[in-house]
Parts: sequence; C-alpha cells; structure tokens
Amino acid sequence: MPKKKPSHSYCLGIESTADDFGAAVVSFDGKVLSNANDAYLPKEGGIHPREAARHHAEVSEKVLAEAFETASVKPREISLVAFSQGPGLGPCLRTGATAARALASYLAVPLVGVNHCVGHIEIGKLATGAVDPVTLYVSGGNTIVSAFEAGKYRIFGETLDIAMGNCLDVFARAVGLQQRKGAPFGAVVEELARKGKKFVSLPYTVKGMDLSFSGLHTAAVNAFESNKGTVEDICYSLQEVAFSMLTEVTERALAHTQKPEVLLTGGVAANKKLQSMLKVVADEHGARFCVVPLKLAADNGAMIAWAGILAYNSGISTPIEKSFVNVKWRLEEVYAPWVEAK
Ligand code: ATP
Ligand code: FE2
Repeated sequence: MPKKKPSHSYCLGIESTADDFGAAVVSFDGKVLSNANDAYLPKEGGIHPREAARHHAEVSEKVLAEAFETASVKPREISLVAFSQGPGLGPCLRTGATAARALASYLAVPLVGVNHCVGHIEIGKLATGAVDPVTLYVSGGNTIVSAFEAGKYRIFGETLDIAMGNCLDVFARAVGLQQRKGAPFGAVVEELARKGKKFVSLPYTVKGMDLSFSGLHTAAVNAFESNKGTVEDICYSLQEVAFSMLTEVTERALAHTQKPEVLLTGGVAANKKLQSMLKVVADEHGARFCVVPLKLAADNGAMIAWAGILAYNSGISTPIEKSFVNVKWRLEEVYAPWVEAK
C-alpha cells in the first residue's frame, strides 16, 4: 500500500459523479491551484450513464493534464489523491475511481474516497469562510437542508422525489428550451423567469421538513401546454413556488438550530433569485448569508480535493480494496471528525 507522508502537500481531486469530469489540484492550506473540467452534453434527453462514463474516460487524460499544468504542479508533487466515491451514477463514478486508484498506486500516495455532498458543503465553507452553517445544497441530483450536529452533517429536510435542479432541467426540456454549453438549463430558466409578468398558480408541496418537486414539474409543463401563461410567466412562477418551498424549509432548520450562517451550495446556487430569497431569511434570523462562488457551485474536482484533505488530516484514508463506489452514499452516513476538530 502507498505510504508517502505528505510534507508540503497538494491533493489531486477527481470528480465524476454525473455529467462532469473534473480534476483539480488544491494545496493542503486550502488554495485552489487549478480546477479543470469537461462536461458531457447529451445530444438529446437526459444523461445516459454509460455514455457519460465513456465521455469521462475519453477526456480524463486531457482534463488531468490541464489540472497539473494550470497548477504548475507535477504529478510527483502530489501527496494525496481524492475522488468522488458517491452518491452518483455508477458507471460515471467507476470511471473516476479507476483513474484515482491508478494514479494513487502509480504515485505511491494515499487515496481518499469523498462523499460528493460533503464536497459541495466543504468547498462552500472554504470559499465563504462559513464555519457552522445551515446548508441548502441544491443540484441536479440532490436537494438537502443540513447542518452539523454530533459528528455528522445531519439531514433536516430533503426532496422526496426529484431534485430541484432536475425539476428545472426536465421542465426546460419538456417545453423545448435549448441548453447551451456553459449555460445549463437552470440558467436558461432563470433568464426567462426575469421576463415573466404573470404568476400562474402551481402546487406548493412541503411535507414536514421534506419537499416534493415532481408534481410541480408536471403542473408547470401542463400550464405551459394549456397556455396559462407565456414560457416566461411559467418559468417565473415555477421559480417562485419552488424557491419559496426551499426557503421555508431552510428557515425552519435555521430557527431550530440557531446556526450563525446560511450556506447555499450546489449547481442551483448560481441562481440570483434563490440567493435573494435566502438572504432575506438569513438576515431576519441574524445569520450571515453565504453563497458558494459561481466557479465552485457546480460539480468540480476542487471540492473533492478539499474534502479529501480535511478527511485525510483527521486520519481518514481509503485503502484500494475498500475504494468501491457507493451510488447511494448518504450525507448523514459520513463521519466528519474534521468539523469539530477545527
Ligand atoms: P449532484 O451530483 O450534486 O446532484 P449535478 O450533476 O446535478 O450534481 P451540479 O453541477 O451541482 O451538478 O448542478 C447542476 C444543476 O444546477 C442543473 O440542474 C442545472 O440546471 C442547475 N443550475 C445551474 N445554473 C443554474 C441557475 N442559474 N439557476 C438554477 N439552476 C441552475
Ligand atoms: Fe454535485
């Protein structure tokens, strides 16, 4: 097994849970030196896991080379390899894990498997200086309100069906909007929503602390097809309803935990409307509102590298024989000793 002890240290992070293949070099003192990425863009429809995995395998060499080059760090200077171990799409995760295992063995350095959700939270904390936030993590595959309590990031509320980002993506596809590289569907919906004038009534579904978006998605598509409003009106109404649901649950978690910060992270964190709604709630509770910077909001290797560094520094590593991916790895299953250690 690899045993090189990190002295002056850099971590290589590999992210491959879904449509992005990312590789980044992050220093142990928290500097993101590079964050290379290549996204798989399906010709039509949603992500096909095996097609995405094939894309990842094809671009991995190029993305890894870019990560080293931009960071001006040689592979031999890496002292830790971190990879997204789950949750995510099996074939995609396995492609990243294979690259990570090969590199860790070749370089004779330790390997650490990172929970993707932890990655989104930790990079948000690093970038904003948040220490103990209530986090709203919203992306294409996840919608989670969480806060740290007794050793773990506890889930206070989550979606019961599809994720917030997925709701926006499937709606956009159903009404014929076009995705552009660099402009995900969520951003297209956001742009149109700004021009919406009329509020169209759509179902608001919060059950206890959990949320449901699938009925909302169907109702929004139906409203569009039955001409209840323009596409701009429906985008506006969809955002109003969905983001109010997210804000309600986040506010209740905040009122309950009395945490000092609200952190918004994940791909949907790029949305200015959602940011403004959460900021109002944070302000009302005297909490600092923190939002992950745009370049670190979507899936990226830097968040995996940084969460890997935190875990490794508190004694966690993943032997190769235990580095199989876990497609359903839940946030609250992760023991996170580094949070209290700080
Ligand atoms: P995860 O595995 O974390 O669920 P993911 O592959 O969905 O990952 P992210 O890159 O974190 O990855 O999030 C992508 C989602 O963010 C997509 O659903 C996309 O439409 C959404 N998104 C991106 N920009 C915006 C925006 N400005 N407004 C709303 N949603 C956005
Ligand atoms: Fe993600």
